[in-house]
Amino acid sequence: MEQNFKRTLITSALPYANGGIHIGHLAGVYVPADIYARYLRLKNQEVIFIGGSDEHGVPVTQRARKEGITPQDVVDRYHNIIKESFEEFGISFDIYSRTTSDIHHKFAAEFFRKLYDDGKLTEQTTKQFFDEKTGKFLTDRDVVGECPYCHKQAYGNQCEEGCGRALEPTELINPRSKETGETPVLKETKNWYLPLNEYQQWLKEWILENHKEWRPNVYGQCKSWLDMDLQPRAMTRDLDWGIPVPVEGADGKVLYVWFDAPIGYISNTKELCDKEPEKWGTWEKWWQNEDTRLVHFIGKDNIVFHCIIFPVMMKAHGKYVMPDNVPSNEFLNLEDDKISTSRNWAVWLHEYLVDFPGKQDVLRYVLTANAPETKDNNFTWKDFQARNNNELVAVYGNFVNRALVLTKKYFDGKVPACGELTDYDRGIIDEFVGVKGEVEKLLDQYKFRDAQKEAMNLARIGNRYLAETEPWKLAKTDLTRVATILNISLQLVANLAIALEPFLPFSSKKLRGMLAMDTFEWSSLGSLELMPTDHELGEVGLLFEKIEDDAIQTQIDKLLATKEANKAAEYKANPIRENIEFDDFTKLDIRVGTVLECCKVPKANKLLQFRIDDGLEGRTIVSGIAAHFKPEELVGKQVCFVANLAPRTIKGIASEGMILSAEDNEGKLSLLTVSPEAKPGSEVK
Ligand code: 2FM
Ligand code: ZN
Repeated sequence: MEQNFKRTLITSALPYANGGIHIGHLAGVYVPADIYARYLRLKNQEVIFIGGSDEHGVPVTQRARKEGITPQDVVDRYHNIIKESFEEFGISFDIYSRTTSDIHHKFAAEFFRKLYDDGKLTEQTTKQFFDEKTGKFLTDRDVVGECPYCHKQAYGNQCEEGCGRALEPTELINPRSKETGETPVLKETKNWYLPLNEYQQWLKEWILENHKEWRPNVYGQCKSWLDMDLQPRAMTRDLDWGIPVPVEGADGKVLYVWFDAPIGYISNTKELCDKEPEKWGTWEKWWQNEDTRLVHFIGKDNIVFHCIIFPVMMKAHGKYVMPDNVPSNEFLNLEDDKISTSRNWAVWLHEYLVDFPGKQDVLRYVLTANAPETKDNNFTWKDFQARNNNELVAVYGNFVNRALVLTKKYFDGKVPACGELTDYDRGIIDEFVGVKGEVEKLLDQYKFRDAQKEAMNLARIGNRYLAETEPWKLAKTDLTRVATILNISLQLVANLAIALEPFLPFSSKKLRGMLAMDTFEWSSLGSLELMPTDHELGEVGLLFEKIEDDAIQTQIDKLLATKEANKAAEYKANPIRENIEFDDFTKLDIRVGTVLECCKVPKANKLLQFRIDDGLEGRTIVSGIAAHFKPEELVGKQVCFVANLAPRTIKGIASEGMILSAEDNEGKLSLLTVSPEAKPGSEVK
């Protein structure tokens, strides 16, 4: 459905203030959001770009506890670090605020209260572990105990050090509070739920019917949620870090972090509008007016919150506009490995700037050129170097430098007059005048990678033009022709400064300085009259510099050192167990089986039920691995299972054995499979 919007409200996911910002954040969310905001501003559109820190949630409290400081100390520290990183990389938020602000607390509490008063929330009482010593309810990860399967020490949500199974805290043998060591008691607790199920039909129509243009990854994820039955979701939690639930009898409860965080987009808008009402108008204009186009930039792990939960919150409230698009990216890997804060497998922005001062645009360029727009993508230091040296330096920088240096040399740094055009000139001009339309079309479709490529194409055209016309050879014989060639080249250079401004703002600024032009209008992109005849150029310098091998090797060595350190830590945490005798090993009867059927166990979101062809009469196995696999993808696989494990009843189902899988150091499971020739029942020795 095409709509004519008057203004655009851009939000970018509020990062948790419990760590710094790395290239994955930048590539996934902030660079594309910034390109889009800059682009719309250059087009003189009415636009607002909202950012801020997400300062509540359990990870903040865990970090505080680990460091022996308060949650407020944690968020104060990281809010400032994050804000500074964004500023340094030119992420041009109109406001970057935080969810611990008074304005936000008040706004989020009022939002909740309205839903409560309007009867839009339901109440539910459940039983949860409670630590009587601290008087606090415990989250799943705050409970530890013995795994009922492998008898190792496990968390309430997963047996990390042993068998890897997903667990419920109530399954643990001898459960204890992680903080105090006390045995927790089960206690009833009341929470308030958003009945997502009541909005399922509306969501289906709004997204699946009316937003088929959303990126396939976003649409696909929404569809798989909406194909299942949505369940009511708790909007309050028994925690002491967060926004107090503004309802009588809710002492010790706070708003669910995913309830308050997206409201942060609205409260931050309000903070800005209240500060500068003449410039921005009212916050309601941005959030509650059909003329506003709302666009959320997020990473793929945030899709359900922005496409389902937050829209339902806004719909239930009643007055808000719905997102017109949610251009979510997939993930960026680093040197073929998943970026991980806990394993320090990341390129941190504050560290990058120490090693590559002034090279913000190089990183912006590489991250956009490799943006994980349709699938996960990979950042490597070699590719970073190649894109800098072969594209930014050899194509863009080289063209600019040649055009400017030749003008200095032959025309005293003044833009020479354009004479008569040849057919070749006309052909070149035809190639580049269409660039505006192309770049706009791609940006309007949120295809930032292709748009940047298209803009860079101007430099390729320019290089080809200079290489073909060779003005340096004509200087002695035909200075008028040289003047025309350089005039066209300088117009192209100015066009580059405009076309790449949303992507590489620092370089465009530098280039404008060299051209001695304060501003250019986006609307004049494609024009051949950007640089007036006789205009005097500024000082010419290098736009980009080559990055040498040793700088890249330093980065690679740093990562190798991290890998070694991780390996050592991992080995320490999970050492090879003590030797066993061969007879001990032969007690295990491991067999090959074919998965005949596999489905989720109802009301147990962690369990899968398998029917296995074991070469005999078949058997049923229940396994706590639902978080890792889609059941339909496992059917037909040849798996290995322990055939002589004593049967157990799990959720009323008799489970006869255990399916084997391998777990990597991040807790990711892969099934142990064998080649299809292995017959069911074959023994694994
Ligand atoms: O995934 C995250 O980092 C969340 N802090 C994003 C929140 S987005 C919004 F809801 F604020
Ligand atoms: Zn276990």
